[in-house]
Amino acid sequence: MAYTQWYKEMAVYQIWPRSFCDGNGDGIGDLWGVLEKLDYIKSLNVDAIWFSPLYPSPNADYGYDIADYKSIHPDFGDLELFRRVLEEAHKRGLKVFMDLVVNHSSDEHPWFRESRSAKDSPYHDYYYWRPGRKGPLGKRLPPNNWTSLFEGGAWEYDSNLDEYYLHLFAKKQPDLNMSNPKVRAEVKDILRFWLDLGVDGFREDVITFTGKAPGLPNSYPKLPIANGMKYFSNRPEVYDYLREFRDEVLSGYDCFTVGESPLTTADIALRYVTEGENKVLDEMISFSHMEADCFMTDMIRRPFDLKKMKRAFSEWQYKLAGRGWNALYIENHDHARIISRYGSEEYPAESGKMLAAMYILQRGTPFIYQGQEIGMTNIRLPEIGMYKDVASHNNYRIFSKLLGKKKAMELLQYSSRENARTPVQWDSSANAGFSSTRPWFSVNPNYTAVNVAAQEADPGSLLNFYRSLLSYRKSSPLVLYGEYRELYPEDNSFYTYERSYQGKRLLVICHFSSVPHGFMAPADMELIKGRLLFSNYKTHSFNGNGFIARPWELRVYEL
Ligand code: NOJ
Repeated sequence: MAYTQWYKEMAVYQIWPRSFCDGNGDGIGDLWGVLEKLDYIKSLNVDAIWFSPLYPSPNADYGYDIADYKSIHPDFGDLELFRRVLEEAHKRGLKVFMDLVVNHSSDEHPWFRESRSAKDSPYHDYYYWRPGRKGPLGKRLPPNNWTSLFEGGAWEYDSNLDEYYLHLFAKKQPDLNMSNPKVRAEVKDILRFWLDLGVDGFREDVITFTGKAPGLPNSYPKLPIANGMKYFSNRPEVYDYLREFRDEVLSGYDCFTVGESPLTTADIALRYVTEGENKVLDEMISFSHMEADCFMTDMIRRPFDLKKMKRAFSEWQYKLAGRGWNALYIENHDHARIISRYGSEEYPAESGKMLAAMYILQRGTPFIYQGQEIGMTNIRLPEIGMYKDVASHNNYRIFSKLLGKKKAMELLQYSSRENARTPVQWDSSANAGFSSTRPWFSVNPNYTAVNVAAQEADPGSLLNFYRSLLSYRKSSPLVLYGEYRELYPEDNSFYTYERSYQGKRLLVICHFSSVPHGFMAPADMELIKGRLLFSNYKTHSFNGNGFIARPWELRVYEL
């Protein structure tokens, strides 16, 4: 197989197409909008675009429920327009990655329609259809006690067949039966289709859920969300499926793969990403560093715990060092905005810059989510009727029952992933310059202050900070390949780490607080002799071999 290495030096920009830019004036982001913005994307010093799903979909989960794997949603354009975007992106040296969503399809996919038409349909076994169980007094019960991540029980009854189908996410997202070789043949066909069209790789949605334990056993203690995960997450079969996709398709192309992997530890990730003959994915998207202010689900809120975040980053940095490659991110379409979570809305520029350097200077491939580069923050929609996302509604339902509506709404305002799905704020004109008409989803009212145009004009903006940071990373073997070592892991106010490579050292000091704290560098690192590469303040004084850190202060020294 070809061992592609370019992914190690690239940075990726993620587009969630509905909210990126509306080019045809219908209020929905699309590929015409992407075409308009390709030069902007290139100007960020990224090397690739990952598109969240662009395929036809009834939008039960905004594109993550696919009704046709080989086409483009008419809201976004068509295949011909996609080819143009691909060509124009390639002309600019930008690679393009698609989202491969094959743990489940839409219930409106022809495969599912066929599969539910009759038990002897050749498509029936494309999905997990099972008879119900008999409960007390003959009551009909689902085949097992698993619960979905999005909509209550994980089984939906079909009276026509008198059988249930499995859905680990929404009811309209039936799980594909990957143990069926015909389903795997379909996946290989989809991979070939897009690779032959010229795309450069895939982000593989919840790929670690594609193997289910034989017999689909009950799971205890029973949880209201994702019950049964030990029987559907990171099963050994997943590796075999990925190996088959690699051997039979991907190895024939110069392409990149990153797997999405909720509940995956660094040790488990190594099964898939360890370099050499057994590698089946280039990278894994970890979740643990995104759980420093919550517990298991984003809705169970806890005060931000810096040490927990540091432990998570360091664990992946240390364990994958010299063995695999990290995917680095702090935002995507599934999490609330990072400044509103780990930073401070009172200090958006300071905390935004600090957070950017904090993760981009680690070892791995940085992913930047649309709007992150200008510091978009949570919108905090006040009423449940204003939310559109199936997961937000499910969380609200569950937590209203447990804690009451008021508390559930407060939690949603802080943690809903829809906070990250508001239209990108391009300028201060109507609809934030996203669309000439009323957008499909609420625009954050802070767009008049926080927008791309304003930050283009300001050399000290967060946007321009991202540009310099990404340009420096690209040209620095120290950042790309240097060793990582965390300093002061027990400190509650600073995240400090060192990168070292061929006698050169970089010291990254990140202050996580709105109130001042003293920082002291180790004696063998003389700050005053170092070169200050990045900072989020204009002046820099010292206090011994350290300094009194101002709110959210960042200093990056080359020593
Ligand atoms: C992970 C995706 O990122 C998320 O947006 C989606 O809802 C689930 N997988 C289900 O496809």
